[in-house]
Amino acid sequence: MTAAETNEPTDLPGDLGTARAPVVVAIDGPAGSGKSSVSRAVARELTFGYLDTGASYRALAWDLLDRGIDPAEAGTVIAELPNFAFAIGTDPADYYVRVGSTDVTDAIREPRVTGVVSLVARIPEVRAELNRRFRALMAATSFGGIVAEGRDITTVVAPDAPVRILLTASEEARMGRRSKELTSESAAAVGAALRSRDEADSRVVDFMNAADGVTTVDSTHLDFDQTVAAVVDVVQTETARTPHGG
Ligand code: DC
Repeated sequence: MTAAETNEPTDLPGDLGTARAPVVVAIDGPAGSGKSSVSRAVARELTFGYLDTGASYRALAWDLLDRGIDPAEAGTVIAELPNFAFAIGTDPADYYVRVGSTDVTDAIREPRVTGVVSLVARIPEVRAELNRRFRALMAATSFGGIVAEGRDITTVVAPDAPVRILLTASEEARMGRRSKELTSESAAAVGAALRSRDEADSRVVDFMNAADGVTTVDSTHLDFDQTVAAVVDVVQTETARTPHGG
């Protein structure tokens, strides 16, 4: 029996079709749903890699601001895409975001970046290029699986993933969590900013409703550990149904 017939991994050069692909856990959800911290904790628990796709949209917005380019000028942004030297750590224990040799892990969370990131994310050419990079990063992971989180992972980036989850929480719960993270801003300002960003982003991709086959985990009444446990539970149930991943 050949390796292809037994579905075993093989190291034959060029025989990529039979190499076992990493198990992709796709997680989408709105801002403030706790997606990033939950996804990272789930990755640690499963000994999987972790891919924060929002960080790359943020890093591109940071790069454009750094170069003095207006993120609203789609033509200029598209022309700059080949120069976007982006790197991200996909080991949950070693998370970093870099543009060229600059570490931007913290800088991309600044309000000046958050304020313009939706302008960048709405450009189809930007999405296509970043999606290409996400798929390459997922395929290259040295872990047995990877938790990839964002807004369109379950629908566009990895629609064939064996595990697809929409992580939601009521708007009130999301605003409460966000304002605790950003102590310098008033709850009202945080709420307004969150709502307007979700509105802008959801015009581009629908991350408020679960697509067919996507499991919803509602964290409104769950604490952090309970949310992580609920997501791990979905991963275990789904991978038991499809043992060889997708
Ligand atoms: O999850 P986040 O707040 O770091 O995401 C930053 C922005 O990037 C957000 O405004 C929406 C956008 N985004 C997207 O359009 N598609 C993704 N897969 C991830 C993020």
